[in-house]
Amino acid sequence: MYDRTRADEVGDRFLATYGPHGGRMDTFLIEGGRRLSGTLRVHGSKNAALPLLTAALLTDEAVTLRDVPDLADIRNMVRLLGELGCERIAGPQPTTLTLKVHDASQSHARYDIVRTMRASISALGPLVAKRGYARVSMPGGCAIGERPVDLHLRGLRALGADIVLNGGDIVARAPRGRLQGAKMFLGGQFGSTVLGTANVMSAATLAVGTTVIESAACEPEIVDLANLLNSMGARITGAGSPRVTIQGVDALKGADHTVIPDRIEAGTLMCAAAITNGDLVLENCPLDALMAAREVLSAAGVHVTEAGGPSADPMRAVCRVTCERVLRPAEFTTQPHPGFPTDLQAQFMTLLTLADGNSIVTERVFPERFLHVAELSRMGARLLRQGATVVVQGVRQLVGAPVMASDLRASAGLVLAGMAAQGTTIVHRVYHLDRGYERLEERLCGVGAKITRVDDKDIGGPATEA
Ligand code: UD1
Repeated sequence: MYDRTRADEVGDRFLATYGPHGGRMDTFLIEGGRRLSGTLRVHGSKNAALPLLTAALLTDEAVTLRDVPDLADIRNMVRLLGELGCERIAGPQPTTLTLKVHDASQSHARYDIVRTMRASISALGPLVAKRGYARVSMPGGCAIGERPVDLHLRGLRALGADIVLNGGDIVARAPRGRLQGAKMFLGGQFGSTVLGTANVMSAATLAVGTTVIESAACEPEIVDLANLLNSMGARITGAGSPRVTIQGVDALKGADHTVIPDRIEAGTLMCAAAITNGDLVLENCPLDALMAAREVLSAAGVHVTEAGGPSADPMRAVCRVTCERVLRPAEFTTQPHPGFPTDLQAQFMTLLTLADGNSIVTERVFPERFLHVAELSRMGARLLRQGATVVVQGVRQLVGAPVMASDLRASAGLVLAGMAAQGTTIVHRVYHLDRGYERLEERLCGVGAKITRVDDKDIGGPATEA
């Protein structure tokens, strides 16, 4: 087994916070006005790693994943897989995980874990495909809005799964133990679904016959999952395009796979360089997956230049981020990939609060994802929301204030705002941030930021109750 790490503690704290007894809640004290300068390596992608981990349920052999970020969500997923009979074998370092199923008798993903992490739904497809039966607690909504799973269920039903809701759990059965390949349309009201595509694609690898998913998500995390599954013996073509074809096979084997770098972490670090008027070099940067975000940065006067020459891997590039003295306003609309990612909306909005003019931000993936707007306004940002659009009137200066993190990416936006603001910013409830960014404050301090992690109780508790 493995030694406990900081992410274990973060995971425990996260669970404790949602548990009946409450728990320690960390807060950041950020002293603004420091320019960032230096080099940072982008970690492996959390959102890629989560469904990759559940792929271990599809085989009896060991699956090794490298460059898995050391995060609370990952620990929670490993715990969930442990409950599903998938053991973690000690690896050489915390970022290498080897998982192997040793007991296939327990196929119930309980509410206790699912409610802390919606990505637990990724276990549904692999379980029903391999074991013929799955019981996964229905994930609830979250801070960024109602998040249905109807498309996941529609896709699995198209593969022949018999699905009912029982006691808050999704109970899925494959008739005679095996799913059947099918043609399906997986688009919804807001476009494609990332984890829904991952679920159905994973399940279809073991189905009888051929599956075609039309309106599949095109995100790089889907391509990474298809690459892992293919190296396990699956036959998937078209991943990364809206039509994915999967020819079912009888069994999958083990594999060894390196997770792609985190495009959202990379985009956040680009904003960190720009908002502090800094100069950062990012290694292991998935530039190819950040075209839409780079376009907005460029419009705003932020330069991302690639080092390493034409032979460099565009998904693991080295790039330098610098910025003009005065940021220019910009417009963007979040969309499924290759459009502008919703997971960078809060960070880019924060950056544009300091632009010289009016910017327009429209959210088309999660139309309610604007909890950061009120908090940024507390710091002097001028933001006017109309439905799913926010007009950002640039100001000269943000001012430090106590603010409340509400979800993972909104928290990142508040940390960026704090680094740019005059005076001290107090960001409460950074457990949200810890779910998706590994040691963010330590890494930012390493390139010039001044951020201290303290226990909320030591500074008199949060600004307001949620
Ligand atoms: C993933 C990411 C999340 C990101 C989101 C969109 C992970 C762990 N999470 O979440 O960080 O913000 O993609 O890029 O990878 N929808 C339905 N029915 C469904 C499923 C989704 O209507 O069955 C809607 C959602 O409410 C949303 C849109 O489709 O409006 C996209 O959601 P989806 O791509 O499924 O997000 P996740 O995969 O859950």
